[in-house]
Amino acid sequence: MADLRPRVWVSQPLFGDLVGRLREHFDVIETAAVGTHPPEEIAAMLASCDGALVTLNDRVGAAEVAHAPRLRAIANVGVGYNNLDVAALTRAGIVVTNTPDVLTETTADFGFALMMAAARRISEAERWLREGQWRQWSFETMLGGDVHGTTLGILGMGRIGQGIACRASGFRMRVLYHNRSRLAADVEGACRAEYVDYDTLLAQSDHLILVLPYSPAVHHLVDAAAIAKMKPTATLTNIARGGIVDEDALADALQSGRLAAAGLDVYEGEPAINPRLLALRNVVLTPHIASGSLATRRAMVALAVDNLTAALGFGPRAGDPPT
Ligand code: DGY
Repeated sequence: MADLRPRVWVSQPLFGDLVGRLREHFDVIETAAVGTHPPEEIAAMLASCDGALVTLNDRVGAAEVAHAPRLRAIANVGVGYNNLDVAALTRAGIVVTNTPDVLTETTADFGFALMMAAARRISEAERWLREGQWRQWSFETMLGGDVHGTTLGILGMGRIGQGIACRASGFRMRVLYHNRSRLAADVEGACRAEYVDYDTLLAQSDHLILVLPYSPAVHHLVDAAAIAKMKPTATLTNIARGGIVDEDALADALQSGRLAAAGLDVYEGEPAINPRLLALRNVVLTPHIASGSLATRRAMVALAVDNLTAALGFGPRAGDPPT
């Protein structure tokens, strides 16, 4: 007898208990290995599916769904969705969902921590100590820059940017931000943040943090010319997407002392890292883990599972009372 249950593809192992909820309504095909699937493999999996749960490892556009007549929904486990060609998928009648809100606070925590680690040279100091270089306490060991009382610049003032701004007020920082559109006055007031143009943000920030979504329009927005406008004592932290920063220009600036330090959680060619960055001491490098607390990663998967279930017609409909 033909199988009438919709079929969904889960592109990598996620939390089994949460993904297991999909089995109530769907036949689930799970790919057992983590990794970047080649386009042909994604196309082959989608060809026989009604829906898919994917991550930033999976790039899906017109070519991957060209032979997927049943496909109606793709749920991305992540707030950023530059791995998906939303315009092409929408044209193909496919609903795309992401996981905002549930990761805001965790990601803001991490952005703040990465900025502090870069400013206070925490990774560099730890490596130096582990290398056995600490012979005796000295007054001038690993002197860094302050965070409290300085000026924080936030590029991209969505939910996560606002979360970072709230944290900054506890450190008595002046907060500047630049965004596609200015926030409403009451939101600015709650964040104690001042709107400035991009050049002013670059020139006045002691610590600049990138939290904006990636699109081709912001590719290498932080390039050599932008870095040249920053203070030489400043730090740059990127928890958005690697493609926003010209990594060679950043490496030049860190190497020459044109910029004090950087904290990077995302990279243009991740998981490959620009070898020039790997060779520098004044950059803290982490493997795209800003949203990576256990509770938040579980919340992201749970939300993506709910999104996929609803998009395929089994979730609560608008107007249903909350349970
Ligand atoms: C996001 O949610 O966009 C994070 O970068 C992890 O996917």
